[in-house]
Amino acid sequence: MDRVAQKGWWRKDLLGIQDLSREEIEIILDTAESFKEISTREIKKVPTLRGKTIVHLFYEPSTRTRTSFEIAAKRLSADAVNISVSTSSVVKGETLLDTARNLQAMELDVLVIRHAAAGTPHMLAEVLPASVINAGDGFREHPTQALLDMLTVRERRGTLEGLRLTIVGDIAHSRVARSNIYGFRTMGAKVRVVGPATMIPVGVEELGVEVFYDLKEGIREADVIMMLRIQKERLQGAFFPSEREYARFFGLTLEALKEARPDVLIMHPGPMNRGVEIAPEVADGPYSVILDQVTNGVAVRMAVLYLLTGGARIGVAH
Ligand code: CP
Repeated sequence: MDRVAQKGWWRKDLLGIQDLSREEIEIILDTAESFKEISTREIKKVPTLRGKTIVHLFYEPSTRTRTSFEIAAKRLSADAVNISVSTSSVVKGETLLDTARNLQAMELDVLVIRHAAAGTPHMLAEVLPASVINAGDGFREHPTQALLDMLTVRERRGTLEGLRLTIVGDIAHSRVARSNIYGFRTMGAKVRVVGPATMIPVGVEELGVEVFYDLKEGIREADVIMMLRIQKERLQGAFFPSEREYARFFGLTLEALKEARPDVLIMHPGPMNRGVEIAPEVADGPYSVILDQVTNGVAVRMAVLYLLTGGARIGVAH
C-alpha cells in the first residue's frame, strides 16, 4: 500500500481506460493484487470503507459486474445498495438525471452505473459530487472489465509488455473490446482483432490494432485469445447469415486452437454462448482463465472503490 499512497490517486471518477496512463493502470492492478488475499480469508472483510455508501444503478442486465461490485463493497465494509431499474421510479418516467440527483441527496459516495447510452457516466460525473464508476456504457467502454482482464494476464505472464492479444468477434459493438484495446496498448501489448467484416468498425486500425478476417490467421502466435459474445442487444439488421455460419468461421474450437501457441490463454468476459463463439471443451479446457477473470473482478473493483474514495490519499491500511 505504501507505493500507492506515495504515488497517489487523484481521480474522482473511473469513466474509461482511454484516458488512463500506464502508471494509473499499474496503480490499480497493484492495489487489486494486494486486495486479493482478503477474499481468501476465513472472514472476508476489512473495515477500510466503513461509513461509505455505494449505489449500483444498472439499466442493463448483469451477473458478474453487479455482483462483484456488491461483493467488493461489502468486503471493504461499505454500505452497498442495489437499485433494480424495473422496480424503481424510472418506470414512472423519472429521468436518469433526477434519479441520480435524488440518490446524491441521500449522501452517496459512489455511483456505479451501467447504461445502454454511451457517455451516460460522463454526464453524471459532471453533475454529481459523488464518484462515478462506469460499469459499461453502450458500446463505448467497460473499464473494470479491461482492468480485471489485464490483471489476469499479468498474473500469468508477469507483464503485458510485448504480449500478443487477439480479440475475436463482434468488435464493432463491444465495449469490452474497446476498453481492452486501450488498456493492453497502453501497457505495451500488440493487439489484433478478428471478425466478420461487418463486425469490424471502420478505422479501427487508428487504435493501433492489426485487423484479420480469418480466425486461424488472427490467432497464430497469439499469447492471449479473447473471445467475445455477439452483442445481439445492439444489433439492428443481419451481420452474418446465421449463428451456425458464424460458429463455423469464428467459433473457437479445439481444431482452430491448433494454430495458437501451446501456452495460450483463453479469455471471455461472459456471458458465453457455448457452441457459438466458443466450444464448451475450449471454455472448460486447460488454457481457459475465464473463471480467474471473474475472481479477479472482485479484487479490481475493491481496488477501484478504494482508490476513488480516497483510501490511498489518506493512507488507509487494510
Ligand atoms: N462481463 C460482464 O460485464 O458480465 P455481466 O454483463 O454479467 O456483468
